[in-house]
Amino acid sequence: MLEQIKKAAEYIRKTQGEAEIGLILGSGLADVLPLDNAHVCAYADIPGFPESTVQGHKSEWVTGNLGGKRVYMMRGRFHYYEGFSLDQIVFPIRVMKLLGVKTIILTNAAGGVNESFQPGDLMLLDDFINYSGVNPLMGKNEEAFGVRFPDMTNALDDNLRILAKECAKKQGLSLQEGVYMWFSGPSYETPAEIRMARTLGADAVGMSTVPEIIAARHCGIKVLGISSITNMAAGVSKNPICHSEVIETGKKVEAQMRDLLTAIIEKI
Ligand code: HPA
Repeated sequence: MLEQIKKAAEYIRKTQGEAEIGLILGSGLADVLPLDNAHVCAYADIPGFPESTVQGHKSEWVTGNLGGKRVYMMRGRFHYYEGFSLDQIVFPIRVMKLLGVKTIILTNAAGGVNESFQPGDLMLLDDFINYSGVNPLMGKNEEAFGVRFPDMTNALDDNLRILAKECAKKQGLSLQEGVYMWFSGPSYETPAEIRMARTLGADAVGMSTVPEIIAARHCGIKVLGISSITNMAAGVSKNPICHSEVIETGKKVEAQMRDLLTAIIEKI
């Protein structure tokens, strides 16, 4: 796998150069951010890169400038429920590491578990619960990236969260904050699972992001995570959950997400 990661990184370095910030855009958010002098390539063009299959997810790697920074932006990510291995899911994180990325911003769509949330809210991740039973660092440890038993205290970087809150305040945007719990999906959770999630301390649930946070922390990249609360989780409201609603709500908060991400990236 390391050889493939190196090949992919080499391809991106040659065609698009290095960058300091990585950004992964989740469901319904892939159109969120225009970069200056953007160079776009399909995942299929990058040697060894997986390809995303979900409606609402594109499969494009964009390199460009934003707020004086060099940024890699992934439009669409890889999910465990698509059948990708955890190695494949975190492949892009490791490619970014080899390309000099120091900070990664992860966005996703999530279901609101905290009853004070509303669809359309943005939530800053302040911690996560890995409820999947698996971990992207299982198997032989790749010492080139990090230690066997990496610490996950402050996994969502304190200083980046302070910065995000300052940026949101300046924009008059109210930003929720809470714990994101990873369920494998693809079925949405049951109302009983959501009651359990709340009891265990979750504020939102989703089907991504946690493996990427773990892999990024393993290799020393700082992480900021922002969820778009696209729906209340199962049983919180009487309505059943459907994917088109998730995508629609994601689209409605695109402008807010764009302004927030732009301000944060300028200040990093
Ligand atoms: N559950 C899990 N993942 C999600 C949800 C949800 O309710 N909404 C958007 N992604």
